[in-house]
Parts: sequence; C-alpha cells; structure tokens
Amino acid sequence: MKPDSIVLRKCHELAEMRACVALQKDVWGFADIELVPLRLFVVAERVGGQVMGAFEGSELVGFAFAIPGCRAGHSYLYSHMLAVRKDHRNAGLGRRLKLFQREDALARGFELMEWTFDPLEIKNAYLNIEKLGAIARRYNVNQYGITSSPLQGGLPTDRLVAEWWLKSKRVESVLREQRKPPFKTLQTVSVPAQVYEWKASQATRDRAQEVQDRNRPVLQKAFAEGLAVLGYERDREGNGTFLLGKWDEPWAY
Ligand SMILES: CC(C)(COP(=O)(O)OP(=O)(O)OC[C@H]1O[C@@H](n2cnc3c(N)ncnc32)[C@H](O)[C@@H]1OP(=O)(O)O)[C@@H](O)C(=O)NCCC(=O)NCCS
Repeated sequence: MKPDSIVLRKCHELAEMRACVALQKDVWGFADIELVPLRLFVVAERVGGQVMGAFEGSELVGFAFAIPGCRAGHSYLYSHMLAVRKDHRNAGLGRRLKLFQREDALARGFELMEWTFDPLEIKNAYLNIEKLGAIARRYNVNQYGITSSPLQGGLPTDRLVAEWWLKSKRVESVLREQRKPPFKTLQTVSVPAQVYEWKASQATRDRAQEVQDRNRPVLQKAFAEGLAVLGYERDREGNGTFLLGKWDEPWAY
C-alpha cells in the first residue's frame, strides 16, 4: 500500500457510515448487539462529534469515531473507536487518523481528547503514549463487562483513560520533534509480549488474566499517588513497559 493513496475525510453520507459499522464488525468481531449502530454514527456527526474515514478509492479502510463530552464545565471529545483494516495496519494510518481528529478538534476549540485502551494491548499503548503523546492517570475496572470481541479474550474489560492534551508542550513536542519532554521514571509496569497469544486461546487465557490481576492494583496505586503514564517502551522481543512519573504540566479537568 502507498500511504499517500489513502485519503482521509469526514463522513457525512449514510453509505459511508454504513461502511464504518461494517468495518467495526470486521475489526472487533463483536456480536451485533454490541456494535455501535448506524444511528449513533449519524447522531455523533450531527452533535459535534467526529466520524472520519480513511478511503482507498471508494473503499473505507479505517475510521475514527468520537462524541462530545463535558466535565467540570469543559467540553472535550471522547474518541470511542479507532479502526484500521488488518491489511492496512502498521503503515502509519492509525496515527494519521488521530492527527486528523486533532486538527479538527483544535479548529473547533477543543483542548482535550480522551479515549480508553486496554492496558494489555502493547501496540495501542505504544501508539497512544509514544507516537501521540497521550498520558494516562485513570484506571477503569471492567468498563464494559465481559464482551463478545475476540480481541478482548473474555477478560474483564479494564481500561486506561488516555488524555490527549492537544495544546500541551508534551503533545506538541512529540508531534513536531518525535521527542517527549524528559521526565524521571519513578516506576515501571511490564506487559509480556505473549499476552496476545495467551488472550487468544481459552487454554491460556488464565495467564493473560494473571498479568491483568497483577498490574491492575499497581497502576491504581501509582495513579492514587499522583503518578501518570508518561512513557512506554517495547523491547526487541515485543514486551511492553509502562514508564510512570510526575507530569509537570498543569492540564486537568
Ligand atoms: C490500533 C490501530 C487502529 C492502529 O492502527 P495502525 O494503522 O496499525 O497504527 P500506526 O501504523 O499508525 O501505528 C502503530 C504503531 O505501533 C507499532 N506496533 C505494531 N505492532 C506492535 C506491537 N505488537 N507492539 C508494539 N508496537 C507495535 C507500529 O510499528 C507503529 O509504530 P511505528 O510507526 O513506530 O512502527 C489498529 O491496530 C486497529 O485497528 N486495531 C484493532 C482495533 C483497536 O484496538 N483499536 C484501538 C482501540 S479503540
């Protein structure tokens, strides 16, 4: 695939949103009852959210979906889904979709975009923390209950909240110079590369669950003590490590 052959644009037509629903089903493998339905894509687009597609010709190969949120009197965008079709992954399209979301958010006056991600997903953590400059300092236990998605392997749907402070020094430096402002690592939390295969099979799921059970209280305690995930390392074997430290920028709401 030539990355330039993929065009990103906002979706307005029903047919485009239908394609998003179909790609959602393909990417997550959810049962129909758990899919975000066409109607909500339509609503999100109408009420100030985002439905953005990545198109190769007329074919949808990725999308981002966000709804507006409000906390402590501040509006922000909550990005509920980012999906790239399997055959187009690891070519920078996920990052491009996030940057397109950011551009649109800034143009409409938003300073914050949030989304959640599974702390066992090494790839997503790396993309969010290292390539985009998001931070995480909140942990939601079993956010959606047990779901039908094979990606979640029947485990409790624990989620970290990614906060993407669009105008922060951190995000600007990551996006402009591919470099995070320096910070002192005060704690680390590791995720073994095998977690993907452990989650994928009923026979080994317990081992993935053990990692989740072990990391959950450690991250919760660190966040309660004021630490935030500020870095994410992956080694040659594909193991991931959360790097926690104190965030010295004042962004919060
Ligand atoms: C998450 C997702 C949208 C990312 O899309 P993508 O187009 O593959 O992302 P990008 O290519 O922009 O970036 C991915 C980065 O992670 C890296 N990566 C890939 N596999 C990895 C792994 N196992 N461990 C760590 N990093 C990994 C890529 O190499 C790339 O970094 P690089 O550019 O430094 O090489 C896509 O994988 C997807 O649709 N996943 C299923 C749905 C999902 O989990 N969505 C997110 C939660 S809503």
